[in-house]
Amino acid sequence: MTNRSLLILPGDGIGPEVMAEVRKIIDWFGTRGLAFHVSEDLVGGAAYDAHGTPLHDDTMAKAQEVDAVLLGAVGGPKYDVLDFSVKPERGLLRLRKEMDLFANLRPAQCFDALADFSSLKKEVVSGLDIMIVRELTSGVYFGEPRGIHVEGNERVGINTQRYTESEIDRVARAAFDLARKRDGRLCSMEKANVMESGILWREVVQAVGDKDYPDVELSHMYADAGAMQLTRWPKQFDVIVTDNLFGDLLSDLAAMLTGSLGMLPSASLGAPMENGRPKALYEPVHGSAPDIAGQGKANPIACILSFAMALRYSFDLGAEAGRLEKAVEDVLADGLRTADLLGKEGATPVSTAEMGDAIVTKLATSA
Ligand code: NAD
Ligand code: IPM
Ligand code: MN
Repeated sequence: MTNRSLLILPGDGIGPEVMAEVRKIIDWFGTRGLAFHVSEDLVGGAAYDAHGTPLHDDTMAKAQEVDAVLLGAVGGPKYDVLDFSVKPERGLLRLRKEMDLFANLRPAQCFDALADFSSLKKEVVSGLDIMIVRELTSGVYFGEPRGIHVEGNERVGINTQRYTESEIDRVARAAFDLARKRDGRLCSMEKANVMESGILWREVVQAVGDKDYPDVELSHMYADAGAMQLTRWPKQFDVIVTDNLFGDLLSDLAAMLTGSLGMLPSASLGAPMENGRPKALYEPVHGSAPDIAGQGKANPIACILSFAMALRYSFDLGAEAGRLEKAVEDVLADGLRTADLLGKEGATPVSTAEMGDAIVTKLATSA
């Protein structure tokens, strides 16, 4: 009996479609003696349809118990009319908050086979390998006060950007640790020129670096300039650490450097538990893509690479993670392309399921 437990939450739109391909990969590892105990549950609109809430308390409890949660995507136009408190996205935000997943790792890597697919010039993106660390449990997403109030004869919408020193300190350490294992460079992004929370952010990150990471080269950049530099010459970066909202925006931007939002995985990690491993949730950066849902067009690679991150960060299976990433790279090198990556000559168009099958076949032949 395996002690590796996974909770799968496919969610909405293309979430179940891309997760079906991850299941094939998990099953393949199972046939090779690497079994996972997998349970599946609802999140987002699917959970709302079944239970009237985007995340049932039982599902939340299960998520707290397993080694890793894998999530597809949540949301969709069908749910636009719902009250804010039960919107699909609230289910995901509750998972992140209650599991205290403060460090969201969003790597942006440009596979050679896709270097001429990016909207940027090939020389700007080829060989790109950067890691964005987004703070995930605080900032303007969660700060109080918040809400829509009536003031005088009009309404006012309020959200509050708020960071404590300890919240900045812990995400900074996560980013410094990663930089140390990579190219040894960390760039912190905020807007210390206009926001007090940015001033504190910069001070705390600098202090952590001075005290405990003198070997990591630390720089600071205003987040707007950071967005510009990410499009001008992204290879200048190694690890970027930034707050919840800036990280959301900058990681979508970074996705397009790699060719498609359908390529970008993520890991959301908490503090290490008693067994030394972090609480963790893995999900693609993309959403439920309502415009292509149900058509077999979704690229499953972001979700598959998110599972590779689970192998690496939750199960200490770095070699298997590398093997899965190599299988993805090889399939792309063979010219197989889902609809989001078509438009260049020499490509073989494939459906979501065909892409998953091809990656499993590559895994099987790479042994
Ligand atoms: P989206 O990421 O769903 O889609 C943006 C564009 O990228 C669309 O044109 C879509 O077709 C394309 N795309 C996304 N993933 C793709 C894939 N795997 N393969 C091919 N093409 C892909 O963002 P959106 O349209 O702004 O949001 C749609 C819904 O998803 C909203 O309800 C939003 O709140 C939700 N959302 C959820 C998550 C999540 O669950 N983590 C993330 C982002 C957005
Ligand atoms: C993401 C998404 C989420 C976010 C939404 C769906 C809550 O855009 O994971 O990037 O804003 O964090
Ligand atoms: Mn986003």
